Amino acid sequence: MIAFRGGFHGRTLLGVTLTGMSQPYKQNFGPFASDVFHVPFPNAYRGVSTEDALAALEEVFATEAAPERVAAIIVEPVQGDGGFLPAPPEFMRALRDVTTRHGIVLIVDEIQAGFGRTGKMFGFQHSGIRPDLVTVAKSLAGGLPISGVVGKAEIMDAPAPGGLGGTYGGNALACAAALAVIEAFEKEDLLARGEHLAARMRDGLEKLQQKYQCIGEVRGLGFMLAIEIVADRSGKAPDAALAQRIIDESRIGGLLVIKCGVNRNVVRFLAPLVTTEAQLDEALTILDGALNRAAG
Ligand SMILES: Cc1ncc(COP(=O)(O)O)c(C=O)c1O
Repeated sequence: MIAFRGGFHGRTLLGVTLTGMSQPYKQNFGPFASDVFHVPFPNAYRGVSTEDALAALEEVFATEAAPERVAAIIVEPVQGDGGFLPAPPEFMRALRDVTTRHGIVLIVDEIQAGFGRTGKMFGFQHSGIRPDLVTVAKSLAGGLPISGVVGKAEIMDAPAPGGLGGTYGGNALACAAALAVIEAFEKEDLLARGEHLAARMRDGLEKLQQKYQCIGEVRGLGFMLAIEIVADRSGKAPDAALAQRIIDESRIGGLLVIKCGVNRNVVRFLAPLVTTEAQLDEALTILDGALNRAAG
């Protein structure tokens, strides 16, 4: 299988093997599953273009695993834990082309980006591609534990009945919550609401970027937004300690935010799509105070 540096796919043996981040996921664990190769993910801020990432994929085909030996490529439409890096649409389309050409299954991991967080129901819709398999969880049931794999019938029907399952599979309460979430998307127009909140939040974060030199970049897609914290804007050296201070000061002020990024220097915001404008504005005010105390 091929996955991407900075990708996060969970903590089972294969999940952590596919994950392209050493700290904290691969630290003190191992050995990992064999035959998983990692390729750079596009990151304009750090100088990795779509062309660079695609060239690295071709290099893996040439040096490590011939394409006919590759079962699947797994990609997040927006790298979540890896630093809220949206995959450029042309990158997703190129992955779709390459996988179709070689008969490789394209898996899009929508566990973090799915269900409206990026402004569309699924992140892959921004590039117009059709994946072969899609993983879903998190926002699917608004916090209740449920996850799923959706995909082409020929793949989904391959296991024999009972071949896939688990103690909590099909849990009635979680399924009811997921149905209620889908209904809320329709009745409350949550996609449009997310877009509205996203624009307001991006605007607020960009104003904070003008005020604080430590915010190297404001980025994300839809309401999935983050700020990358650097020691100085020209050198762009990641400042994980400062990011942690901002997170701690935010918590003291009453705002819970978490870090991400391979260097753990990105502060990410994952507020629910039902957040009110007043709550969002309050959060931005708390963040302003936290930045002021941590970096000022
Ligand atoms: C993109 C992505 N994939 C997979 C996972 C792992 O999901 P789980 O913890 O349900 O195994 C996560 C969790 O954060 C995630 O963000």
